[in-house]
Amino acid sequence: MTDRPARCLAPSILSADFSRLAQQVALVEPHSGLLHVDVMDGHFVPNLTLGPPVVECLRHATALPIDCHLMIEAPDRYLADFARAGTSFLSVHQEACPHLHRTVQRVRELGMGPGVALNPATPVHTLDVVLAELEFVLVMSVNPGFGGQKFIPSALGKIEALARKRGELGLGFRIEVDGGVGADTLPALLGAGAEWFVAGSAVFRAEDPGAAARSLAEVIRA
Ligand code: DX5
Ligand code: ZN
Repeated sequence: MTDRPARCLAPSILSADFSRLAQQVALVEPHSGLLHVDVMDGHFVPNLTLGPPVVECLRHATALPIDCHLMIEAPDRYLADFARAGTSFLSVHQEACPHLHRTVQRVRELGMGPGVALNPATPVHTLDVVLAELEFVLVMSVNPGFGGQKFIPSALGKIEALARKRGELGLGFRIEVDGGVGADTLPALLGAGAEWFVAGSAVFRAEDPGAAARSLAEVIRA
């Protein structure tokens, strides 16, 4: 399994130009620790994106570890496909997994680092029983489905609670935040204890995605 990166930027390709995906990824790669890939099924969230074939293409286009965020119902059906495609870290949604412990174990058996994502309305304590099994927790700071939405500030308290729990339990999972991350929200997120920063529109909707990634990464590393 790939080692967990320390504090880093994880650009989300959701807001990239898909007709030039490899070039867009190359622009941000030097400033990033992960490449975030949003998988949506039109059921769990009201949007459709991409699947394992695109991940496989990305695997050949970048050296960054690929972080797949599955916003899909019954994700167990596709875990092996995402592993084969070259996924390093994979998150499923707590709300989509009635057998969350089994799903997390399966992700690990397949050689990927397991994470669980929480919607804005899902409390942190729903993960108490599985925290020790996780490489990361993904705190959604928008309702999943679309890029470019407004940051929901209650995510900050959830990140603080996770960081506190991690210390109390002596665990090592990373805390990832996704949604509305940009220069304006980064300082509070860093203060709360987030470590992996997913940014879609703040990077790929910028005039110069490479420069945008560089300046966000500088704040994250400082
Ligand atoms: C939203 C996705 C995000 C999305 C974030 O459901 O999970 O990864 O790309 O986009 P921004 O950074 O624009 O909020
Ligand atoms: Zn995401």
